Amino acid sequence: MTKTIKKIAIMTSGGDAPGMNAFIRSATRYAIEKGLGVFGILEGYQGLIENRLIEMNYDSVCNTIHLGGTILKTSRSQEFMTHEGRLKAAKNLNDKEIDALICCGGDGSYAGLKEFANKETGEWQGLVIGSPGTIDNDVSGTDLTIGFDTAVNTAVEAIDKLRDTGDSHSRHFIVEVMGRHCGDIAQAVGLASGATFIAVPEEKTDIKSIVCTLRKRGHDIVVVAEGNELGGAEKIAQLLEQHHREMKSNSEFRACVLGHIQRGGSPTAKDRILAHRFAIKAVDALLSGETLKATASKADEIILSLL
Ligand code: F6P
Repeated sequence: MTKTIKKIAIMTSGGDAPGMNAFIRSATRYAIEKGLGVFGILEGYQGLIENRLIEMNYDSVCNTIHLGGTILKTSRSQEFMTHEGRLKAAKNLNDKEIDALICCGGDGSYAGLKEFANKETGEWQGLVIGSPGTIDNDVSGTDLTIGFDTAVNTAVEAIDKLRDTGDSHSRHFIVEVMGRHCGDIAQAVGLASGATFIAVPEEKTDIKSIVCTLRKRGHDIVVVAEGNELGGAEKIAQLLEQHHREMKSNSEFRACVLGHIQRGGSPTAKDRILAHRFAIKAVDALLSGETLKATASKADEIILSLL
């Protein structure tokens, strides 16, 4: 028989991603409409361990849909990786009679959720649902994660600006985007900004193949993911300069690391809508007694996949 849930808690975890607020907003308001009590957990798993829970109402999420970051804050908690940490977290949820937990985050956050609510070995017996929120787009089971589209647009806008100065000085720009293990941001940014070369972590990059693609005296754009095996933008710019000197070319190179700029800013319409659809699916999943599942986008359908 499906357990009737009365109170849920919502949290964001891991690296923040634009659109997380749209997610919190829709999950909170939809759950309230469905008659549920809603708590927000501040600062992710660490806040849960430290009992930083706040009651949410309709107005708690007022005027937040357009904001980047996460109003609930976030963290990467080492303590939640320990059994003792998770025991404290479970006690805090039980004390408030919370029946279910929604966590918006990436793969690491999903792993924590799985461990915590494991039916045999987990510390907590409530229902758990994950929703993918990370700019990296590297969560398995879903085509898209909340924040990816905004991050890509932010990086493309920055590269459009770099093109102006690159063109004026006839300099090549090597632009580093985020993505430790996943080249999705680099791939999308590279295509949308007309990059001459895209270096991703998933494929070996041969410096000579970059050298061949660049014009002798031009202003080409090379997009490199931070996890690329040759190194980041600085390293690649150095290697390219060296090769060009050997070729007696006086091409100039500049490196630009976009870094955490990609994590901020107002979410795009696409990210807000995706966040809304994930939030509705997450609450509905809990209402039908689902647990240890994640909302996912597959061919534009919102489905449930395994955590
Ligand atoms: O997980 C998203 C991400 O932005 C990665 O692309 C990046 O490698 C990492 O987080 C940076 O982490 P931190 O914010 O802890 O420096």
